This record gives sequence, structure tokens and C-alpha cells, in this order.
Amino acid sequence: MSNVPLPFAPESPWLAPLAGYSDLPFRTLCRKYGAACAETEMVSAKGLVFGGYGSERLLATAPIDSPVVVQLFGSEPEIFARAMPPLLERGFTRFDLNCGCSVRKVNKSGSGSALLARPELLYRIAAAMIGAAGPGNVGFKLRLGFTPDDENFLDVGRRLADMGAGWLTLHPRTGRQLFSGQARWAAIGELARAVPIPVLASGDLFFAEDAARCLAETGCAGVMFARGALTDPMIFRRLRDILAGRPTAPRTAAELAEAALTHIDLCRELDGTPHAFRAIRTFLPRYAKGFHGIRALRQSLLECPDWRALREAAASIAELTPDPGQPQAFIPGETALPQGDENTPGC
Ligand SMILES: Cc1cc2nc3c(=O)[nH]c(=O)nc-3n(C[C@H](O)[C@H](O)[C@H](O)COP(=O)(O)O)c2cc1C
Repeated sequence: MSNVPLPFAPESPWLAPLAGYSDLPFRTLCRKYGAACAETEMVSAKGLVFGGYGSERLLATAPIDSPVVVQLFGSEPEIFARAMPPLLERGFTRFDLNCGCSVRKVNKSGSGSALLARPELLYRIAAAMIGAAGPGNVGFKLRLGFTPDDENFLDVGRRLADMGAGWLTLHPRTGRQLFSGQARWAAIGELARAVPIPVLASGDLFFAEDAARCLAETGCAGVMFARGALTDPMIFRRLRDILAGRPTAPRTAAELAEAALTHIDLCRELDGTPHAFRAIRTFLPRYAKGFHGIRALRQSLLECPDWRALREAAASIAELTPDPGQPQAFIPGETALPQGDENTPGC
């Protein structure tokens, strides 16, 4: 794996860590459409040390998947100290600590955004990660704080920067907020002014235009697309176009069909397992969000017995027409999967 410098610039958007989605095929697809860097799905530090939890699949990578950042979650510094050396031996060089996930199951173990409620513990994990990977090679993905009464992102951010963090990402909601309300972009600007390292923005970047506004309003180093990339993997290219003054237009059915077909081909080439086949069948309807016929499309994809049938069904996305009554992207409170299941990914 190469050790190229990480890109921190407005015109170098990243793909955010997305549990259940940012696997090798999707990262590769997003890179093809302009993502300058991509993070893995969150990987359990404990799972790495004790085996299991499907960590191997989450760590799958390829030469084209560069630069890549491995995102870890957990709450025990000693476990991180044990998890890091094998990752470095395998050639991974950049890491991120998940301090933002608000899923109950993750918070219950003290991980994700719950780490913000115990900053001293967070700093011990940071010391283990930075000690192993070296200063500059570890990022931290923060929320404002765990609860609204304890918004400590500025203190935490400053301390992590002092400890040798390479960059910070802020999703400006509290842990308790999950995805409700709106991301408070002004806090991203505050953090960017408070620390001497790059700050990446995350939160409510549903369209490329949102990211351009967020960059202008906050002065942050760059952005990370999350839900926006799930409905439009070409969002990276669109942002680059906007920033370069090139004309852009809303996503079209033809583009989405192209993205879907490329995604299928990448899944087959880079994975090809029955797991990948099942996963891509449920992923693809997101590309048709806001178009007529999404329900029928979902059904026809689910009925596909093999990769060839899947390609044929996905090609039909090109015929869909936009539904003016439906949003063309996610809206603030909406996560990517049905609510109510504490195992539902969505951080
Ligand atoms: C389905 C889903 C999975 C996510 N998985 C992760 C994850 O593994 N690690 C993480 O730090 N954040 C995760 N997030 C949070 C995103 O990276 C991002 O910070 C958040 O969605 C806000 O950005 P957005 O409003 O532009 O989507 C996830 C979000 C969603 C919707």
C-alpha cells in the first residue's frame, strides 16, 4: 500500500466511513468518480484482536484503493495497542478513530460518540494509535459532544492535535442527536480555526452544492461525502466541477444507470461472493431515489438470480423519470436503512 500524502483540499473530497456500504467495490466506484481518498467501514478493534466480526472482509483492499484510511472503533486502549501492529504489518498506514457513531449497540460498549463522554479514555486510545502509526497518520472523527450539555469538540480537538493527530473530521451534531435536526456547520468553522491541523466537514452534504456552501461558510480543509454518495456516487465529480467553475446539472437516470452497472461490475470483479451479490441487490435502489418506479426496481433486483440478470435489471434505471414529489437525496433525519433495529448500521 502506498504512502502518498493524504489529500486535504476543497477539490479533493473524501468518501466517509459508511458501515454496510463503504466496502472495496463502493470505494473504487467513488474514486472513479472523483473521490480523492476513502475510509473503510468501521472495523472493531476487538474483532481484529480476537478474530471474527467479519473483519477480513472489511479490510479487503487493492492497489487501486489508495489512499485508504482504516477506521477503527472500540473503547479499550490495550486492545488498540494490540490491534495496530498487525494492521501496520499488512501495509495499512492511515487510521481513523470512530468517535461519532451513535448506534445504541456501539455506545453501550463505550465506543463511538460515547468516547466523547470519557475524553481521558479517548486520549489513551489516541496515544496507542498514534504511538503505533506515527504522528500525522491518525485522524479522529468527532461529533460536537456526547450530549448537548457537554459539547467538548473544541477541547478534544485541540488536545488530539497536540498529541499528533493528522486531521479531524467533525459531524456537527451531538451523539444523542443521532441524525435529527440539522448539522451545525458553524461549529466546523470554529474547530478549523481552533486547531493547526486539517479539519474535514461531514454532515448534511447531500448534494455537491451543499459541500461547496459548507466549504465557503466554514473555511475547512475539505469535505467528506456520506449519504450524498449513496444516492449519487458522481457527487465527487460534481463538486470538483463546481469549484472549477464548470457547469453542473442534477443527476440523470442515464448517469445513475451507468454508475449502477459499474458498481455491479466492480462488486463482481473485486469480491464476487454470494454476500457481495446479496448486498449489491439492496444497495442499487438508492441510486434511483427520487425517481418514479423505485419500488418496482427494488423488487426486480431482488428477484435476480445471477449477475447477468442483475445487470439487465440495473440497466433499466436509465428509463426512469424523476418524481418531482420526492426528494432526490436523503433528508436530514433520514438514515440509509430502516430505523428501530439497534444493529442497524448508521453512525
Ligand atoms: C449508513 C451509515 C453508515 C455510517 N457508518 C459510519 C461508520 O462506520 N463510521 C463513522 O465514523 N461514521 C459513519 N456514518 C456517519 C457518516 O460517516 C457521516 O458522518 C454522517 O452520515 C453525516 O454525513 P451526511 O449527513 O452527509 O450523511 C454512517 C452514516 C450512515 C448513514
